[in-house]
Amino acid sequence: MKSVAPLPEPLPLTGDTLHLFAWRVPDLVTYHHRRDEVWVAPLDDHLPIIRLNQTGIAMLSAMNGHTTVGALLEQYGTKVCGPDGQLGRWHLERWATPNYSLCFYGSAPPGGHRHSARWDLLLQRVRDRWSGQHEFEGEDHLDHFHRYELGDPHEDDRHFDLIETTVSHLFREPSEVLGGLTYGRLLMRQLRRLGWFSPKPSMILEIGGGLGYVAQGLGQELLPFEKRSVRYISLDLTRAFLHLQISRAAEGGWIAVGTRADAEALPFTDQSIDLVIDNENMADMTPVLLSREELASGKGNTPQHQEALDWIRRARIPLGSDLPDPVIFNLGPIRFVAELWRVLKPGGRAFLSEFGIDRGWPHPVRLPGHTEYEVQYTHLRQVIRWLGFQEQYLSLPQFLAIKPDTKVLCTGAVYTIRRFCEMLNKPFTVKAYTEPELRQALGDMLPKLQGCHYHAVADPAWFNLFDFKVLLLEKPGGLSKPRFTDAKGYRWYSHQ
Ligand SMILES: C[S@@+](CC[C@H](N)C(=O)[O-])C[C@H]1O[C@@H](n2cnc3c(N)ncnc32)[C@H](O)[C@@H]1O
Repeated sequence: MKSVAPLPEPLPLTGDTLHLFAWRVPDLVTYHHRRDEVWVAPLDDHLPIIRLNQTGIAMLSAMNGHTTVGALLEQYGTKVCGPDGQLGRWHLERWATPNYSLCFYGSAPPGGHRHSARWDLLLQRVRDRWSGQHEFEGEDHLDHFHRYELGDPHEDDRHFDLIETTVSHLFREPSEVLGGLTYGRLLMRQLRRLGWFSPKPSMILEIGGGLGYVAQGLGQELLPFEKRSVRYISLDLTRAFLHLQISRAAEGGWIAVGTRADAEALPFTDQSIDLVIDNENMADMTPVLLSREELASGKGNTPQHQEALDWIRRARIPLGSDLPDPVIFNLGPIRFVAELWRVLKPGGRAFLSEFGIDRGWPHPVRLPGHTEYEVQYTHLRQVIRWLGFQEQYLSLPQFLAIKPDTKVLCTGAVYTIRRFCEMLNKPFTVKAYTEPELRQALGDMLPKLQGCHYHAVADPAWFNLFDFKVLLLEKPGGLSKPRFTDAKGYRWYSHQ
């Protein structure tokens, strides 16, 4: 993993900085290792855990929004704050930098009330520094990232644990939230309920399968005869992920092959695929930055811009009256659905899921080392309907029928506990934890942790789960089949 931000110089504790107030990050998770030793974890994974003694803990506790940096420096600056020997000054110079992100210095809290400094706003400040570019990282950036920057995942989950955690990754193990199923299994259960496996598809294409857990779960949910003679193709732009995708698909019982290709230009003949699965991948596809002038004139400054403008005109994508200048437009996802239209057989179907918005224009979402872009679903759906698909659109929790008030451990706490466990050589998986699941995973360690907090799974503060949408697409033209329901020994037929 890349460092989340370039290592900054320690903050000079002089001048105006001394008059700023200090807020420790709310909900900070700490680990009581020994009698006089407590651990806290800097945000940047490359930095060592910070070990504090009573003095260090007292300094951390004093960062309550009422104490100035100057007062902290005076009281703790020359005192040893932990077994590693650093003085209070050393910590005060570093903790408010993005790589540490243990506290915030300001004249006002980073949002909201003085007593409720908000971690998400603090984190936003940190994220803004992950990327050198302020708003838009360029139209080729994501393609380059996936083709050249991602190395071998070495059979472990690190990339998705730390860089781009997906919903399916958080639920790759059986979870209480999903009624004891994995994400892949529950997805298959829902697709089966929709009738997408009767008759069974003969050619399934999964796009951007990451580490292959979805393929594995999808297969595990089916009985052997339901998978027999079905071909499962895993297509990904990142070469390094492909072998795990194929091996996990095989573990799920699929006859699997992999191909390295771009979802925006699928290497398949027309009408050759029955079912496409694309889970949390569209935000990685090509964005373009269009100026107001280009939108007004319909004339693009580059061939790629012209392609985007042609889609806007052709599909009559509504631009709205109050156009910002410039705007980000999801060209990649539009190319992708046009390719789906081409490669799907009549009656073929696609499941697409990704985070996104229904109004306004896509925003960049900063992740370590790369930036993704919200999918603008109103635009995308306009194209989908223009192509001729029948579509259904709903939120991911709705689709999965998740109970919205189930409580799960804050993901920030999960990352921190992972670091503590790493120090202790104790295995710990990054995933969604209910309280009993965490108790089972941590055993004796749990009482030594402070600050573990839980959110309702539907609470935006957890993972913004309701921002993840599902599109169910069907290309018309398949064989219509009689449907019936059994009731009290009678079959009630309806034709669709
Ligand atoms: C965020 S990950 C999602 C992984 C997995 N589906 C999951 O749910 O965890 C995006 C995946 O799409 C792949 N990818 C990104 N852009 C792509 C493109 N244009 N064509 C094909 N695959 C792409 C990445 O290599 C990665 O495997």
